Amino acid sequence: MKIILLGPPGAGKGTQAQRLQQERGMVQLSTGDMLRAAVASGSDLGVKAKAIMERGDLVPDALMVGLIEQRIAQPDCAKGFILDGFPRTTAQAEALDRMLAAMGVKLDRVIEMEVDEAALTERIVGRFSCAKCGAGYHDKFKQPAKRGVCDSCGHTEFSRRKDDNAETVKTRMAAYRAQTEPLLPYYRAKGVLRGVDGMAEMGEVYRQIVRILDGT
Ligand code: AP5
Ligand code: MG
Ligand code: ZN
Repeated sequence: MKIILLGPPGAGKGTQAQRLQQERGMVQLSTGDMLRAAVASGSDLGVKAKAIMERGDLVPDALMVGLIEQRIAQPDCAKGFILDGFPRTTAQAEALDRMLAAMGVKLDRVIEMEVDEAALTERIVGRFSCAKCGAGYHDKFKQPAKRGVCDSCGHTEFSRRKDDNAETVKTRMAAYRAQTEPLLPYYRAKGVLRGVDGMAEMGEVYRQIVRILDGT
């Protein structure tokens, strides 16, 4: 299956994509994670993206399309992937259509995570992740089973994203509304859009996604 998870910052895209990757062997393609890795490595892309991400604005389409184009052509993506954070603009969605058509690949579903914007700041400012394996957690909603120890890999250091502060969240939300929300009618018109209740508890959101993927 080839799918897109679409939703505002903090909607739960990464949380659900990580679980789909673990349980269904689909590859998580998170452009946010790729950019953060580029920033950490100090690559050309990282140098260009750093300040933009810290402001909460979108990185230019040409850079993002190039990044995904390279990644999606890797052999592991043939077994199925979850796009998490891409596309985010109409130009990116059109570029993705062209890319998939050239590869002879069909996009199965676009899943909208429907959330109440008022809840998102709390989700974002409470988020942290394992510094080694990237597993995602939350101060209130998802602590590791043993406090201070990653469930997935046993590591004891965690990190927080620089853009996870109340001020930057406002810019990220505005970017979502202005540039990404127009993708909902774009995919609705193609007949691939489905919605899940992103306000439900994480396990329930996952079950709703699986029901869509399994076509029940
Ligand atoms: P990106 O990393 O994609 O950030 P985002 O879209 O702002 O989304 P988040 O990662 O904040 O949220 P999420 O939906 O993954 O939520 P999560 O599952 O972690 O992008 C970062 C930046 O990179 C952008 O601002 C931009 O600058 C740049 N960028 C990236 N892609 C780009 C592109 N294509 N074009 C241009 N620029 C691009 O959940 C959040 C928290 O809530 C977690 O702590 C989690 O534990 C908790 N949680 C999750 N689900 C639930 C639930 N159901 N109930 C309670 N808590 C929950
Ligand atoms: Mg994410
Ligand atoms: Zn870990």
